[in-house]
Amino acid sequence: MEYPMAKIELSNISHTYNPKDINPTYALNPFSMTWENGKRYAILGPSGCGKTTMLNIVSGLVKPSKGKILFDENDVTDLITEERNIAQVFQFPVIYNTMTVYDNLAFPLRCRNFTDQKIEERVKSVSDTLRLSSFLNSPARKLTADQKQLISLGRGLVREDVVGVLMDEPLTVIDPDLKFRLRRNLKEINEQYKTTLVYVTHDQNEAMTFADNIIVMDQGEIVQVGLPKDLFEKPRTTFVGYFIGSPAMNLFNSEILSDNSLKFNNDTIKTRTDLSKIKNKNVKLGIRSEFIKIATHQKENVVSVKVTRVEDFGNFKLITGKAGDLEIKSKVEREIPISTEELKLHLPAEKCCIYSDEKLVN
Ligand SMILES: Nc1ncnc2c1ncn2[C@@H]1O[C@H](COP(=O)(O)OP(=O)(O)OP(=O)(O)O)[C@@H](O)[C@H]1O
Ligand SMILES: [Mg+2]
Repeated sequence: MEYPMAKIELSNISHTYNPKDINPTYALNPFSMTWENGKRYAILGPSGCGKTTMLNIVSGLVKPSKGKILFDENDVTDLITEERNIAQVFQFPVIYNTMTVYDNLAFPLRCRNFTDQKIEERVKSVSDTLRLSSFLNSPARKLTADQKQLISLGRGLVREDVVGVLMDEPLTVIDPDLKFRLRRNLKEINEQYKTTLVYVTHDQNEAMTFADNIIVMDQGEIVQVGLPKDLFEKPRTTFVGYFIGSPAMNLFNSEILSDNSLKFNNDTIKTRTDLSKIKNKNVKLGIRSEFIKIATHQKENVVSVKVTRVEDFGNFKLITGKAGDLEIKSKVEREIPISTEELKLHLPAEKCCIYSDEKLVN
């Protein structure tokens, strides 16, 4: 079957839930974004940042205060959900308890007059993927909470004629093992059928393992769109550095010295960033703990720290140290013995990110 190929465009969208207030608060500040056909996107951000609002604007459950939604250049902003050909899966199961699992899965297709043969084919394929085949004749109410959510997911995936499948934290109620398998299944579905999948989550691991594009949001803003590698190595704002990664990115208040160097307690850190144009000399230095290692032969970018804690995580050790008021974390191989209280750590210049007003200086 042919899939409706469509690019989803959000053009100059903004949204407030209280437009009549004198000072309306914006759940989404103005932004534009394109979701290419057939890709997997994750929308990642803390509670209340606007993820669900964005999804509901695309599916038509919420009409944006400003801006347009385009599916392949066609303006669908005024179309209701049913006319948009979008499947949406919510955090909690939306199913018919009295119907059988089969009928629940068949329902979206029956509504659109698919043939019985086609319905059977699709229900079989989706129920195999979600391992619901042996329950097809049971009434949905007899299933566990997990399984009910699988039915919900199945109802989202059963239609082949959709522009995209939007999922709002669909696996929250599912146990971790199954979650992992389902994410892989979703990836396979996307690779096989080229259906655009958009997946909302506040869990970075879920986002990283699922998506090829991650949209990071904070307080109604899209702060970065990129591959996991981009978010990890070059967070565009200190928020992304802090929100992504475990532990969070090291961020130090610092001061620009001459020659693109920064002050780090009593030491100097050279960077590869042109800092000459920054007016405010107070900046932040960001560097991932993964890139900070115990200094061996290095002469530059070596800092002295007092070790305050060493945690053994089995596959690595996390050293926490202090340099004056600055706290620094370094992830090192677990075999490395750490006996001394004083350590010299190396911060490679190419891994240093400089933030001015919380934004990355390029
Ligand atoms: N129906 C509504 N009426 C008024 N305000 C709303 C409504 N829905 C959401 N909001 C507000 O809009 C902002 C964004 O909410 P939204 O539900 O989109 O966030 P979210 O990122 O999905 O959060 P969560 O991770 O908790 O689901 C929040 O401040 C929220 O309180
Ligand atoms: Mg939400």
